[in-house]
Amino acid sequence: MKIHTRVGGTGSYLPGDPVSNASLIAAHGLDSSDEWIVERTGIRSRHLAAPGVTSSDLALEASRRALDAAGRKPEEVDLIIVATSTPDYVFPSAAALLQSKLGITNGAPAFDVQAVCSGFVYALTIAEKFIGSGSHKCALVVGAEVFSRILDWKDRGTCVLFGDGAGAVVLEASDQPGLLASAFHADGSHHGILSVPGQLCGGVVTGDPFLRMDGQAVFKFAVKVLADVAHEVLAAADMTAGQVDWLIPHQANVRILQATAKRLHVPPERCIVTVDRHGNTSAASIPLALDESVRSGQIQRGQHLLLEGVGGGFTWGATLLRF
Ligand code: ACO
Repeated sequence: MKIHTRVGGTGSYLPGDPVSNASLIAAHGLDSSDEWIVERTGIRSRHLAAPGVTSSDLALEASRRALDAAGRKPEEVDLIIVATSTPDYVFPSAAALLQSKLGITNGAPAFDVQAVCSGFVYALTIAEKFIGSGSHKCALVVGAEVFSRILDWKDRGTCVLFGDGAGAVVLEASDQPGLLASAFHADGSHHGILSVPGQLCGGVVTGDPFLRMDGQAVFKFAVKVLADVAHEVLAAADMTAGQVDWLIPHQANVRILQATAKRLHVPPERCIVTVDRHGNTSAASIPLALDESVRSGQIQRGQHLLLEGVGGGFTWGATLLRF
């Protein structure tokens, strides 16, 4: 009998109070305005982690909530994947640190996935392979980021766009269909349009340690691949966009979300939007949006969800699931 993978529970965590556009502009002396940011991006506020708070700290809170929602004890988890581009350290992985913080001592494998804003979809796809093969039964899949640490606060074109946070899901082996189809892709030839081109070398940072982006090139690339990969997973599951109850795209920019929904002929009211309150939280944005919508009662059990992400690399992917 086929082993299916379903979402047992979701959780998320946002650090601190919301930081409005006006507060951010004042704090960093930016030549910008609330009007410009809202009009071009849809972002009104974001959350920023306090100094010393790391991705694994945010992941811990989100994971506790997801485990609670799934009715699982940490020790039942037999696979831990954290999607992040802002891990606590060069190594060990944020996933290994999360395992320790959760008190899991069963030897479950723990590793990070680095696919920037597509990381959570990549991690879901990987976890589903393990569960579907029968090798693992209960996976904790997390997206956690502190992008505030890699922003150049003098670059108004990027620093207003991002936020910190974490989201998590517990994936379980099931005899009922859950994850229906997944696809993930990369094209490294576009590495130059979105990157943090720095490295640690001989005890110092060499290159540029801040996020750099060609916003318009990213915009065009994102809208195209998000539509393509959505069609790919819909075809794989023999479904149409009309059967999707909720589209949950990576929350980069409200204009990208609207353009993607339009291309897929999904009405705007069936597209989950949290970027206005979270900013772009990279790998955390999809599980954060998912968890908020589950807890608000918007998303109900049995509904069909289309999750999709695009990010630096370039990477992109989608997962179609029955919740
Ligand atoms: N406040 C005021 N003015 C600004 C700001 C700001 N925060 N940022 C840029 N500007 C200025 C620019 O300097 C430029 O001024 P100029 O005409 O005097 O040179 C002007 O606004 C227009 O700049 P553009 O870059 O052409 O503005 P655009 O309409 O393209 O909007 C944006 C920029 C919002 C970044 C847009 O390109 C975008 O959303 N791109 C998608 C990128 C994205 O979402 N990235 C997230 C990471 S990638 C991912 O998650 C997939």
